[in-house]
Amino acid sequence: MENIQGKVVVITGASSGLGEATARFLSAQGATVVLGARRVDRLQALATGLNRDGAEALVVTTDVTHRDQVKKLVDAAVQKYGRIDVMINNAGLMPQSPLERLKIDEWNRMIDVNIKGVLYGIAAALPYMKQQKAGHFINVSSVAGHKVGPGFAVYAATKHAVRALSEGLRQEVKPYNIRTTVVSPGAVATELPNSVTEPDIADRIQKFYDEIAIPAESFARAVAFAMSQPEDVDVNEILFRPTRQEL
Ligand SMILES: NC(=O)c1ccc[n+]([C@@H]2O[C@H](COP(=O)([O-])OP(=O)(O)OC[C@H]3O[C@@H](n4cnc5c(N)ncnc54)[C@H](OP(=O)(O)O)[C@@H]3O)[C@@H](O)[C@H]2O)c1
Repeated sequence: MENIQGKVVVITGASSGLGEATARFLSAQGATVVLGARRVDRLQALATGLNRDGAEALVVTTDVTHRDQVKKLVDAAVQKYGRIDVMINNAGLMPQSPLERLKIDEWNRMIDVNIKGVLYGIAAALPYMKQQKAGHFINVSSVAGHKVGPGFAVYAATKHAVRALSEGLRQEVKPYNIRTTVVSPGAVATELPNSVTEPDIADRIQKFYDEIAIPAESFARAVAFAMSQPEDVDVNEILFRPTRQEL
């Protein structure tokens, strides 16, 4: 694939699922990956494997709810590699439940990780990209950024917010030659269903994922497609689902 080799790519939520699969896929195409998440043992194991295959990977322990930690992640990428080409704001969680169950701590957590985490990623990378007059934000929304249904109002609200932020960002960064892509996956097999704490809902979601979820590499290929376009082509939205997914 064109236009991936040598790029410095920062990925939040790289310790599992979509982030991990993307780190593997892009580094196989010659990208340098900078991996952020809280489970540093998982990141280290991933980086060690990538290094063994001859790829360049850096690990920075990052909780995206802390603005200073996200800044440290991006600063570390620029200090070590001299630039940041792509910022993938991917970290997220999906503790679904109907509003009437009043899982207010989980609402706050989704707002903190899924929205504020993305904002902190933008805040950390934008000054560098502005200066470089080049860069690419890839923000992870969801089918739930396009559809709302009973049981996932708050998750859907956070993922709608990611799309709104990305569209605003897209319009504002035109003068700096920065690209913006929102990727909205349907059901992809990752650890995401583990974030559901209500047992009845967790069961239902796990069953749904077991039946139809597609491999995480589907997401990595979508990211690679957007990245690999010529620099004057800005792929703004990618929405994909398992072929069998109805909603
Ligand atoms: N899988 C799907 O079907 C699907 C569909 C649509 C959208 N998405 C979105 O895709 C993104 C990735 O999810 P996934 O499916 O790959 O699930 P996952 O396997 O559970 O991965 C979630 C990642 O986010 C990280 N994370 C969670 N809280 C964090 C925090 N406070 N600070 C830093 N990292 C944090 C986790 O790392 P640590 O726990 O190590 O910090 C983990 O690496 C999420 O935004 C999710 O909403 C997924």
